[in-house]
Amino acid sequence: MTHKCKSSNKARTVTIIIIIVIVTVIIIIVSIVIFVKLMRRRDKKEMSLTNVESETMEVKNIESLKYNFSIVRAATNCFCENNKLGQGGFGVVYKGKLGDGREIAVKRLSKDSRQGDIEFKNEVLLVAKLQHRNLVKLYGFSLEGSERLLIYEFLQNGSLDKFIFDPTKRLLLNWQKRFTIIKGIAKGLLYLHEDSRLKIIHRDLKASNILLDTEMNPKIADFGIVRLFNHEETQGNTGRIVGTYGYMAPEYARHGHFSAKSDVYSFGVLVLEIVTGQKNQRFHNAEITEHLLSFAWNSWQNGTTDLIDPALKAESNSLNEIMRSVHIGLLCVQENVRDRPTMSSVVNMFNSPSLSLLVPSEPANFSTGPDTSIDK
Ligand SMILES: Nc1ncnc2c1ncn2[C@@H]1O[C@H](COP(=O)(O)OP(=O)(O)O)[C@@H](O)[C@H]1O
Ligand SMILES: *[C@@H]1O[C@H](CO)[C@@H](O)[C@H](O)[C@H]1NC(C)=O
Ligand SMILES: *[C@@H]1O[C@H](CO)[C@@H](O)[C@H](O)[C@H]1NC(C)=O
Ligand SMILES: *[C@@H]1O[C@H](CO)[C@@H](O)[C@H](O)[C@H]1NC(C)=O
Ligand SMILES: *[C@@H]1O[C@H](CO)[C@@H](O)[C@H](O)[C@H]1NC(C)=O
Ligand SMILES: [Mg+2]
Repeated sequence: MTHKCKSSNKARTVTIIIIIVIVTVIIIIVSIVIFVKLMRRRDKKEMSLTNVESETMEVKNIESLKYNFSIVRAATNCFCENNKLGQGGFGVVYKGKLGDGREIAVKRLSKDSRQGDIEFKNEVLLVAKLQHRNLVKLYGFSLEGSERLLIYEFLQNGSLDKFIFDPTKRLLLNWQKRFTIIKGIAKGLLYLHEDSRLKIIHRDLKASNILLDTEMNPKIADFGIVRLFNHEETQGNTGRIVGTYGYMAPEYARHGHFSAKSDVYSFGVLVLEIVTGQKNQRFHNAEITEHLLSFAWNSWQNGTTDLIDPALKAESNSLNEIMRSVHIGLLCVQENVRDRPTMSSVVNMFNSPSLSLLVPSEPANFSTGPDTSIDK
């Protein structure tokens, strides 16, 4: 063998080795990429199984959501007074029972809804697609002339306000039940804000919009109602304020600016109400009528536990959890919108008890009006 041949042989061997190395590296990279993608997909599947009730069917078309008006009217006994569950800013709610025995809650929208039938149907379709175990299910709608009905699942145990603001029914809710309710509301709201396809801002989160199932699990009601009522009111700034005094973030009450952070504020008020058992609007403490938020703030600053509902006082081993919830509530009602946490960090704070929390600033101080939904 000549020297020249030897060196070209050597070069060939080196080339082959380089090619093998390159091919191996490519194969490894491709396998890693495929593996990571598969894992991600599996994670997503698991997440959607935990977030969304697996038994619910995907809503595909508007026809499947349509209910015959005369049948729904008959189901509520022709909207009789005895079947009335209550009245809010958008209409009256009746209890009903369908032919197949299914119980429903029918919201008869007041006539000043100004959007066309097609827009209304499109909004119903979008809202009906939002499904989560902490949201009230929208079964469908019914139309006849100017009449518009929304048909919801009926929840046996009614709304949270009927429990926490009632001196005797309040006793039925121990801390564990209240804590489950708080965490459920947080998860439902997180889904509306971040996980759902629509990114819905509730705008009227309050104790009467938290409904309770037979096991006292919370379900948020009336989400997307603004879209269903008037299609145009979906921008971040509106002259028309939809909401309830006592729960409204200051920037929303004053200037009509709303964002996910105004829901976070309402959530904070709700947490403080659940812990104290007191309504934000009419809060009484030993003759002094004081705003719930400033009372909670002062009491928390002083390191006292007088804000806790006396019915919970006996549960001394839950005291840390209760005070941590007050702390999280106070973080949510801060005046500066940017200081308020997002719902995903709120859920995180509840899930990780060892996570240290920021120090809240003093809540906004503004006069509260009467306890009514306003619409101006
Ligand atoms: N799906 C439902 N199941 C049971 N009760 C309901 C349901 N929806 C509403 N309600 C009851 O009807 C009342 C009136 O509801 P609504 O018109 O939304 O007014 P608001 O939420 O301002 O009280 C609620 O407070 C609640 O107690
Ligand atoms: C609704 O039901 C009533 C009574 O069962 C029936 O007479 C009517 O035709 C139905 N309407 C529609 C649009 O299906
Ligand atoms: C909730 O409803 C269920 C079924 O109606 C009932 O058995 C249960 O006692 C109710 N819980 C409360 C606290 O009222
Ligand atoms: C907090 O402490 C201050 C000063 O000691 C006192 O005036 C105030 O009443 C206390 N507030 C509450 C809610 O405990
Ligand atoms: C809050 O409002 C009350 C009553 O209007 C007032 O006395 C108090 O000084 C205010 N507090 C702050 C921090 O602005
Ligand atoms: Mg409601």
